[in-house]
Amino acid sequence: MSEDQASSGQGALTHSELRLRQITDTIPAHIGYFDHDWVFRYGNRRYAQWFGTTSEGMKDRPILEVIGPHVFAQVEDKVRRALAGEEVSYEYSMPGPGGEILYTRSTLVPDFGPGGEVIGCYVHAVDVTEQRRTQGALAQAQKMEAIGQLTGGLAHDFNNMLTVVIGNLHGLVEALGDHPAVAEYVEPALAAAEGGAGLIRRLLAFSRQQPIAPVVVEVNELVLDMARMIRRSLPSTITVSTASRDVDLRALVDPNQLESALLNLALNARDAMPNGGELRIACSLECIEGAAAADLELPPGCYVQIAVADNGTGMDSATLTRVFEPFFTTKKFGLGSGLGMAMVYGFIKQSGGGVRIRSRQAVGTTVSLLLPQAPREAAALPAAGTAEPGDGGGVPTVAARPLEGRLVLLVEDDDKVRDVVRKQLSALGCAVLEAESGHEAADMVENIPAIALVLSDIVMPGGMDGRALARFVRRFRPELPVVLMSGYADRALPGREDADVEVLGKPFTQERLLEALRAAIA
Ligand SMILES: Nc1ncnc2c1ncn2[C@@H]1O[C@H](COP(=O)(O)OP(=O)(O)OP(=O)(O)O)[C@@H](O)[C@H]1O
Ligand SMILES: [Mg+2]
Repeated sequence: MSEDQASSGQGALTHSELRLRQITDTIPAHIGYFDHDWVFRYGNRRYAQWFGTTSEGMKDRPILEVIGPHVFAQVEDKVRRALAGEEVSYEYSMPGPGGEILYTRSTLVPDFGPGGEVIGCYVHAVDVTEQRRTQGALAQAQKMEAIGQLTGGLAHDFNNMLTVVIGNLHGLVEALGDHPAVAEYVEPALAAAEGGAGLIRRLLAFSRQQPIAPVVVEVNELVLDMARMIRRSLPSTITVSTASRDVDLRALVDPNQLESALLNLALNARDAMPNGGELRIACSLECIEGAAAADLELPPGCYVQIAVADNGTGMDSATLTRVFEPFFTTKKFGLGSGLGMAMVYGFIKQSGGGVRIRSRQAVGTTVSLLLPQAPREAAALPAAGTAEPGDGGGVPTVAARPLEGRLVLLVEDDDKVRDVVRKQLSALGCAVLEAESGHEAADMVENIPAIALVLSDIVMPGGMDGRALARFVRRFRPELPVVLMSGYADRALPGREDADVEVLGKPFTQERLLEALRAAIA
């Protein structure tokens, strides 16, 4: 201790007060003190900053004046209880400088005088905004996961039923030829069943169980093509423009699904701009890290972004929090099914990307899709995949028995589905062998050299599923083509050893079946 300090008790006191102040100013908490007259006597730097003032600025000022009426209304009762001698803990919220909501957890500890009376109160508080946000995000993710599983299971069962319905109706069309009953009864039934299949596809997309076929997509090109199409289908009061910040934007994504996601976004934008407006689609390379990446549940890195912006009605916060939920719609009955954004969300997540929404009421909405960039070596991957079965209701026309004479091994554990697919194969001219399980099929592959193609369900009980069967075939008869059928999206992603196996999403039309078989044989 220096002589100067030792000589001055006053100086030592000031020095230790200063140290104490430095300490309270640096710890990451709000610390304050108010007296029984509801007047602040102390606030550390963080506490003062929280209310937009300084320690000097809040000293000797009434609580209401410092914290404002919004927070005061939430804490008044707690202050009263603390000044009556009770230790009180609670949370309160207030709007931050940027309009965001901030949350604080506070504890008030009464300060007792020598006679046991309360003379004031210590305040200790921490900012829990970030904790609230992560808890909220987690709860939201869990909710989406749960709804996904629920709808996924349901959709899968419906898919099988629709495969049977559509297949049998096609069979009926073939059998009846140009009988008037076809146009009167069968075609409307087919159209409705195919409409149902369209709905189920969106549900499966939401629950990330839609088979997807990611390939390298030149995003600028796809967006330009889509913009042309969207321009034609939106009313002329809406202008559609595109912009790109980067030239070479290649994403690894299913182009058909991406188109339908963009169409869903465009239709939402149209509905949000009943009196016209602007729809802007902008592509760029977007690098995200830290909290932004965590919010999207994505690893930090660079993604291909497609931002679809409108200057329509925007969304309130209640709508925003539910926008991805299946069946959530604010549209009149019959005008929206509430599956558009659910489809977009599920598909983008399944593709390894994320969706970000910014929306302000009366200003507009921007929905940004972040897609994984195509790796350099992926240039050699196949070009755009085959189309999904059409949403329309027409009866497909199939060239006369194009696969005449080929022996196809059909592997499917569900009798009814097997029956329908067998009929479809027969209609294409194939001879059909049937197996109910992977093991039975493997036996046949080993013993019947005439089998020219294997068409197998993926999910089958009994230890050998479709994928295992495909691996078996690759080992014992590498030249034998395999096509897998699935209502689920356990389709191989590029890079997996069985990535080249054709996967056919259920339910499928005869046309789609033919396409898949041709692709496998080619
Ligand atoms: N661009 C937007 N502007 C304003 N609100 C939007 C926008 N996009 C979505 N919404 C809101 O989110 C809700 C859900 O959208 P979603 O696309 O999932 O269903 P929908 O459009 O109501 O019906 P569907 O797309 O199945 O026909 C909409 O009803 C609407 O309230
Ligand atoms: Mg919609």
